[in-house]
Amino acid sequence: MLKGRHLIEPTDFSTEEMEKLFVLAGKIEEKPEDYREICRGNVLATLFFEPSTRTRLSFEAAMLRLGGSNLGFAEPGSSSSVKGESLADTIRTVACYADAIVMRNPKEGSALLASRSSVVPVINAGDGGHHHPTQTLTDLLTIRQMRGKIEKLTVGFCGDLKFGRTVHSLVEALSRYSGINFVFISPKELTIPDYLKSQALLKSNVNFTETADLENVIGDLDILYMTRVQRERFFNEEEYIRLKDSYIVNPAKLKNAKKDMMILHPLPRVNEIDTEVDKDPRAIYFRQAKYGMYVRMALLSSILLGDKYA
Ligand code: CP
Repeated sequence: MLKGRHLIEPTDFSTEEMEKLFVLAGKIEEKPEDYREICRGNVLATLFFEPSTRTRLSFEAAMLRLGGSNLGFAEPGSSSSVKGESLADTIRTVACYADAIVMRNPKEGSALLASRSSVVPVINAGDGGHHHPTQTLTDLLTIRQMRGKIEKLTVGFCGDLKFGRTVHSLVEALSRYSGINFVFISPKELTIPDYLKSQALLKSNVNFTETADLENVIGDLDILYMTRVQRERFFNEEEYIRLKDSYIVNPAKLKNAKKDMMILHPLPRVNEIDTEVDKDPRAIYFRQAKYGMYVRMALLSSILLGDKYA
């Protein structure tokens, strides 16, 4: 039962609980009119201390499409945090006004801290380079709907694997499914953190390889998960400029890829996927963004109302 639960890390919910969310998201996608009033009277707070298009708007769209209401801020400059209010006090206050809180914050660990000050569920919408669990729900739902299963897959992660919170969360979550192989493709400066290798991969006995050469491995992949090199996570602008265009997927590079390989990307993209690729049936990233709204509808319904609609 997810009613009243926080979602801070990608493995906070069991795979069985996540499967229930995916089934509900599928039902909502199929017949949205059956769900358009179920959250009437509920209020969602969206507190974004960092920019966002998809996560904030898909949460707000999800709440509106369930009949509920939203309040919050899209940038911290309009909140009392600029006057020096602590995160704990902000959350305690917002919990007086809302039935659930979605928060994005540049500091790793801030979502956990927020959950400790909140009497209503807190959903982590990204805490620095740490985790982004609802992007993981989005990614897993996309894989499940497109492939019919989340197992026996070779998944390539490409780009910024060091700071990419969507990568960190999806790697941890996918490590719980059977027959998953990972191929980590990055420049040596942006490799997957050691803690993930020891905690998620080696502990669960998951097969993985690391390389800097996308073209050499693209033919092995069932899923290519592209990521942006994130300017906002670099301390050194020169380093960012040197690494930002390390990988650019274009139609020529896809020639050796499997015919049914899925290209995913949490978005936003900058240069890493040529817009020519958008026409390729393997390009799933905008459909992925839409699945993000359906899975957030399922999540909000479950944490606010319990299993009533599951
Ligand atoms: N995928 C994602 O988190 O996108 P936004 O930064 O636009 O929310």
